[in-house]
Amino acid sequence: MHTAVAHASHCGAPRGEVADIVERVTTEARDGALQIAVFSGDAVSVYRLPPGGTLTVGRADDNDICLDDRAMSRRHAVIHAGPPLVIEDLGGANATHLARAAERGHGGETLALRRLSGERSELSVGDRINFGAAVAVVRRESPPPGVASSGSDDEVVLRDPEMRRVYEQAARAAQGILSVLVLGETGVGKDVLARAIHRASPRAAKPFLAINCAALSESLLESELFGHEKGAFTGALQARAGLFESADGGTVFLDEVGDLPMTTQVKLLRVLEQREVLRVGARTPRPVNVRFVSATNKDLEALAERSAFRQDLFFRLDGITLTVPPLRDRPADIPWLVKRFLVTASRQMDRATHPSLAPKTLALLQAHAWPGNVRELRNVVDRAVVLAPGDVVLPEHLPPKLVAAAEAPATPAGGVLRVPARVAPPSDVADRLRREVDELEKQRILDALAKCDGNQTRAAELLGISRRTLINRIVEFDLPRPRKH
Ligand SMILES: Nc1ncnc2c1ncn2[C@@H]1O[C@H](COP(=O)(O)OP(=O)(O)O)[C@@H](O)[C@H]1O
Ligand SMILES: [Mg+2]
Repeated sequence: MHTAVAHASHCGAPRGEVADIVERVTTEARDGALQIAVFSGDAVSVYRLPPGGTLTVGRADDNDICLDDRAMSRRHAVIHAGPPLVIEDLGGANATHLARAAERGHGGETLALRRLSGERSELSVGDRINFGAAVAVVRRESPPPGVASSGSDDEVVLRDPEMRRVYEQAARAAQGILSVLVLGETGVGKDVLARAIHRASPRAAKPFLAINCAALSESLLESELFGHEKGAFTGALQARAGLFESADGGTVFLDEVGDLPMTTQVKLLRVLEQREVLRVGARTPRPVNVRFVSATNKDLEALAERSAFRQDLFFRLDGITLTVPPLRDRPADIPWLVKRFLVTASRQMDRATHPSLAPKTLALLQAHAWPGNVRELRNVVDRAVVLAPGDVVLPEHLPPKLVAAAEAPATPAGGVLRVPARVAPPSDVADRLRREVDELEKQRILDALAKCDGNQTRAAELLGISRRTLINRIVEFDLPRPRKH
């Protein structure tokens, strides 16, 4: 999967189909698998090394790693996944330069660069490769925060009181019956929250399936999401279950749901409404039991009002809305996130220790407005860890634009990473949240009943829950029993 933040636009769409739009996240460790991270301008692109395969690097569009840089040849180098992992320079005008992790001096300010021209060289984790203006590094994959159980380093950073409130509300919503809609700017941590909801839900032991709706074409949708019967179309030699079926009992995460094409919205609505899928070529639908969590950085309500998004689908997805605040509104999180990213990036590069930040560096990070939010911060820290030859990250290891833009405020006294004390949530918070979420559920049920003129079967359909669950909730919340139909 590409976790690319931005691809150079001329390089065309990243390759790969289903793997790019669907990510199955399980708790099985993905640690150990190697990846190449490429830092180019403000963008970071991550490429998984295909076992035994190759990644080509160059300026031409058809390279796996395409770099829009005059210093690069059209086909510049090939990385062989091996083992052994090898970089092969193809002997173009400008050579490839390699900095070996093993030759990194302790506290060392210098990096020995080896020039590769038409040669091959073995690569190890932590080795750095210069491709023109871009820098690439070999590192280990690391699971998303909260997924690995191996110690506190992997936990979701939650220091800001508002963030804690959002997560507490999410934990409560996770127990509930309604779909959850996660709103927030790009990079604030919507994926992270969606996974946290799954883990806190009774469905935690079942699959979590993330679908990037922006990349969903109708043809993929049909057979991938719904599956197909044997002989449904040419080439359908075997019957195959779709992704919804394989997520049965679990959570489906509809990421970038605001980008869902209209035609696809209709088909998705059916799944949410009927809670069943019809495999391509099948006559009888099969029931699926999945909880939907969606996320978008768009104003879905406004889209729905303008008819750019189906009202009925919006209503179905928007059971409980959680909004993740932008990073600029939670500066208390910054030092903790930085620390976490320093540790993770170092571990990914097999470094025994992680570098610290010079006080000036931290001050610059705290002064920045972070339009790209946590993702931007992570990229900046990841890049700094690759660029810093020694044990201290200096301002020169930050993107020049960031340094130029910031008017660094006074540095905190004596401080490498001064962090605020842990804030304990007040004890009545849990109760208050429970009441809030109950109130939300209650309101949604009343709305749905009003919309359906008191018809419980239709209201249940509208809410995407079973009639039995609806009736249970009506009794539980002591709502007036609607008239019978
Ligand atoms: N609270 C957090 N603690 C640790 N890492 C985080 C946190 N929030 C976001 N991240 C990291 O920041 C990056 C962007 O988060 P993501 O959930 O993908 O954002 P979004 O989906 O809102 O665009 C990811 O690398 C994620 O692991
Ligand atoms: Mg996202």
